[in-house]
Amino acid sequence: MRKNISFKLFMVTVFFFLLFIVTQLILQSLFFERYFIWRKTTEFETKLKKFEFQYYNYVDDWSKAIGLINEFEKNEDSKIVVLENDGTMSYITKYYDEKNDITKINDVKEIITKWRNDSNNAYNLKTATDIITYTVNNKNYDFKHLVCVSSIKKNGIQVKTIFAITPLNEVSDTIETLSDFYMYFYIVAFVISLILSIIYSRMVSRPLRKVTKTAKKMSRLDFSEKCEVTSQDEIGRLAETLNFLSANLELALNSLKKSNKKLKIDIEKEKKIEKMRREFIASISHELKTPITLIEGYAEGFKDGIFEDEEKDYYIDVILDEARKMEVMVADMLQLSKYESGNIELHIEEFDIIPLINKIIKKMSTSQVNDKKLNLITDFYEKEILVKADIQRIEGVINNFFTNAIRHTQQDGNIYVNIKDDKSRIFIEVENEGSFIPEEEKNKIWNKFYKIDKSGNKKFGGTGLGLAIVKNILELHKSTFGVENTEKGVKFYFSLDK
Ligand SMILES: Nc1ncnc2c1ncn2[C@@H]1O[C@H](COP(=O)(O)OP(=O)(O)OP(=O)(O)O)[C@@H](O)[C@H]1O
Ligand SMILES: [Mg+2]
Repeated sequence: MRKNISFKLFMVTVFFFLLFIVTQLILQSLFFERYFIWRKTTEFETKLKKFEFQYYNYVDDWSKAIGLINEFEKNEDSKIVVLENDGTMSYITKYYDEKNDITKINDVKEIITKWRNDSNNAYNLKTATDIITYTVNNKNYDFKHLVCVSSIKKNGIQVKTIFAITPLNEVSDTIETLSDFYMYFYIVAFVISLILSIIYSRMVSRPLRKVTKTAKKMSRLDFSEKCEVTSQDEIGRLAETLNFLSANLELALNSLKKSNKKLKIDIEKEKKIEKMRREFIASISHELKTPITLIEGYAEGFKDGIFEDEEKDYYIDVILDEARKMEVMVADMLQLSKYESGNIELHIEEFDIIPLINKIIKKMSTSQVNDKKLNLITDFYEKEILVKADIQRIEGVINNFFTNAIRHTQQDGNIYVNIKDDKSRIFIEVENEGSFIPEEEKNKIWNKFYKIDKSGNKKFGGTGLGLAIVKNILELHKSTFGVENTEKGVKFYFSLDK
């Protein structure tokens, strides 16, 4: 059996309705007949008193008395019997339907005989100030007779006794009719109350079911559905509160999710920084080991005096060279670690890129370029090209591309510097003749400490930090950059916003 609210409401309604019917039936069977008889009695007594009052004046005038009696009997559907003091029935009417009258007269006679047989009655009547009323069960009928006995007194002496007898058949008739009526009434009322109870239990349970459905979704942290109950009653207010709760929960949950996401990102960032720090320490100790060992070895050589005088200058130069390299490496690494920790802010400004490139070319055109007899070929002639970038950091980028190009170009080779215009940005390309970069290395060269020639060959020098720094700077500028193998050699390029 479903234990839902509609069912409960329905059951309660049916229960109260049945209780009402049962109570009604009990009250009816207990009190209805009594009440009816009581009402009939009081009415009959009042009428009889009125009759007696009139009859009193005609006690000795029979012709007038008969008219009065006939009228009373007809109006009240009763029989009047006048009994003389000696016990003779001085009057009993006969009219119309003789057969019916005879049975009535027989009933009356029987009642009077019974009255007379009880000697107390006569005494009671003598002392009574009012009418004596009682009911008689008659074995021939299934109804009672109401009997009123009263004495007519003259000068305080009883002269006649009057019996007024009326059948109470209408009581049982009325009760029977009423029971019949109530049976139909109860059936109809029961059906109506059933239908009503179903309707109103649904009226209550339907919005509740809607609210429950939303609440269930909420319990699964799904706040997509809102209660659509719009009534102004308690259920409406419950739905409103639930909607309010749902909105608040969703808000709280979203903000919690957001903070959680941020926390995760922070933790990830922290982990990454920690990893970088470890890698940094590992790399730096590895990279610094070689020059330190070299410096240490040569310094000990000096101490032990194993070098010839003419060799001493060479070894001092080596020591100085290694120490300078270490200095550069440490500076590069510090710069790189700054970029990687994300604590760098760019100072973006608009400037002309041409003078910057020319400045770098001029600087480079000294030692190495001259030594190798390299040709620096540019495709731009003094025209102004404005870009928006951090000038100092872009100088670092171009510097690095140039140093690499110079390093990897063979004797008498060419280095090309081109600037290309592309709608909202410009591309700067540094191309050098020389060996290609294998396809699978193209991505790796941007990693720190990555060098294609892993033999530690002194030919190219460098620590593999240059392009890693360049990558960080260009990413901060949201630049498009990369490397390509060309017909002549290798081309590095990057874009800058105009
Ligand atoms: N123009 C180029 N031609 C050929 N290979 C290059 C060129 N530029 C860079 N590479 C390769 O990419 C590697 C990484 O370059 P990167 O600039 O990061 O380091 P590096 O030049 O060796 O050292 P650093 O720049 O720190 O002095 C180089 O070791 C080299 O193998
Ligand atoms: Mg380099």
